[in-house]
Amino acid sequence: MGYKVAVVGATGNVGREMLDILAERAFPADEVVALASRRSQGQEVSFGDKILKVKALDTYDFTDTDICLMSAGGEASKEWSPRIGQQGCVVIDNSSAFRYDADVPLIVPEVNADAVVGFTKRNIIANPNCSTAQLVVALKPLHEAATIKRVVVSTYQSVSGAGKDAMDELFNQTRAVFTAGEVVQKKFTKRIAFNVIPHIDVFMEDGYTKEEWKMVAETKKMLDPKIKLTATAVRVPVFIGHAESVNIEFERPLSPEQATEILRAAPGVLVIDKRENGGYMTPHEAAGEDATYISRIREDATIENGLNFWCVSDNLRKGAALNAVQIAEVLINRKLLQKSQQAA
Ligand SMILES: NC(=O)c1ccc[n+]([C@@H]2O[C@H](COP(=O)([O-])OP(=O)(O)OC[C@H]3O[C@@H](n4cnc5c(N)ncnc54)[C@H](OP(=O)(O)O)[C@@H]3O)[C@@H](O)[C@H]2O)c1
Repeated sequence: MGYKVAVVGATGNVGREMLDILAERAFPADEVVALASRRSQGQEVSFGDKILKVKALDTYDFTDTDICLMSAGGEASKEWSPRIGQQGCVVIDNSSAFRYDADVPLIVPEVNADAVVGFTKRNIIANPNCSTAQLVVALKPLHEAATIKRVVVSTYQSVSGAGKDAMDELFNQTRAVFTAGEVVQKKFTKRIAFNVIPHIDVFMEDGYTKEEWKMVAETKKMLDPKIKLTATAVRVPVFIGHAESVNIEFERPLSPEQATEILRAAPGVLVIDKRENGGYMTPHEAAGEDATYISRIREDATIENGLNFWCVSDNLRKGAALNAVQIAEVLINRKLLQKSQQAA
C-alpha cells in the first residue's frame, strides 16, 4: 500500500513540476491531491496521464495525508505548514519560512540526507533556495576532498525562480519590445527583457540582498558552518535554469583534473567540460533535466589552492520540485514515515 501525497501550490511553477516528477519517478503514492488557493478551486492540472481537479488548501483535512509538498510561498507556509505538521502529515516546505529554524532540517539528499531524522520536532523539512541547492551538490564532494575555506559565487538566475507571473512578464516584455508596444514592469524592479538585474529578494542592512544572504546561511547549515561564502545574485532573461560562476579557495591543493574526477563520481552531478566551442552546459540545455551540470573547471592561479567552475541546473527541478520529492523518497526508504508504516 502506498502513500497519500498532497501538493500545495499545484497550479504554480514548482507545484506543476512536483506533479510531473512524482509521476516520472513512479513515486509510491496511492493518491495524489492537488491543492492551491480558492482562486484555483476546480481548475485541472496534469498528473502523469491523469487529470486532477484542484482543491482549496483552506478547507482540506490533512489527517489521513502522509506527505505534503508545500510550494505556495512564504506567507502560506508560515500559516499552514505548522498546522499541517500538527495533523501528523510531514511537510516538505519549499519556502524560506522554516529553513533557518534549528528544529527544522534543511536537506539536499546528496549532501546531508542523514540530518532528515530531525524532522519529528515540527514535522517540517525545509527545501533550500534554488541557487543554493545546485551549489551545495557540487561543493560537497570537493569539500570532502580538500576542505573549502571560501567561496565567491555570482549567479545568473532565470525568471521562473520568481514564479509563473515573472515568466509571463519576460514573455510579454519581449513581445512588447519587438512590436513597439508598452513594456510593462510589475514583478521586477527594472525591465528584464534584454537586460540583467543585480537584485533578487529584498535588500538587507549590509547592502546584500536576502537571496545572497540565503546562499550563505543555507550553505553553512547544510555543509559546514566554517565555510566562508560571498554571493552576488543576478536575474537574467532566461525562462528556466540557473547558472553560477563559482570560485573556491581550498585548504589543500586540488588540481582541475582531480576536481573533475571527483565531480564525475559525485551523486547528482554531470561534468560537461570539453574546453572547445560548445563544450559546456547552458541553462537552455539543462531545463527539464535532473542533474547539476559542471563545466569550465580550471585553476584560479591568483590564490593558493584556487579553482573556478561553471554550474548549471534546472531551478524548478533540483532547485525545488525534484529535491522535495527526493527528500520524500529518503523518508520512505529510511522508513521514517510512522503513520504510513502503520497504514501499510
Ligand atoms: N521557482 C523556483 O525556482 C523556486 C525554487 C525554490 C523554492 N521556491 C519556492 O516555492 C514557492 C512557490 O514558487 P512558484 O515558483 O511555484 O510560485 P508560483 O508559480 O507563483 O505559484 C504559487 C502557487 O502557490 C499557490 N498559492 C499562493 N497563495 C496561496 C494560498 N494562500 N493558499 C494556497 N495556495 C496558494 C498558487 O495558487 P493559485 O494559482 O491558486 O494562486 C500557486 O499554485 C515559493 O515559496 C518559492 O519561494 C521556488
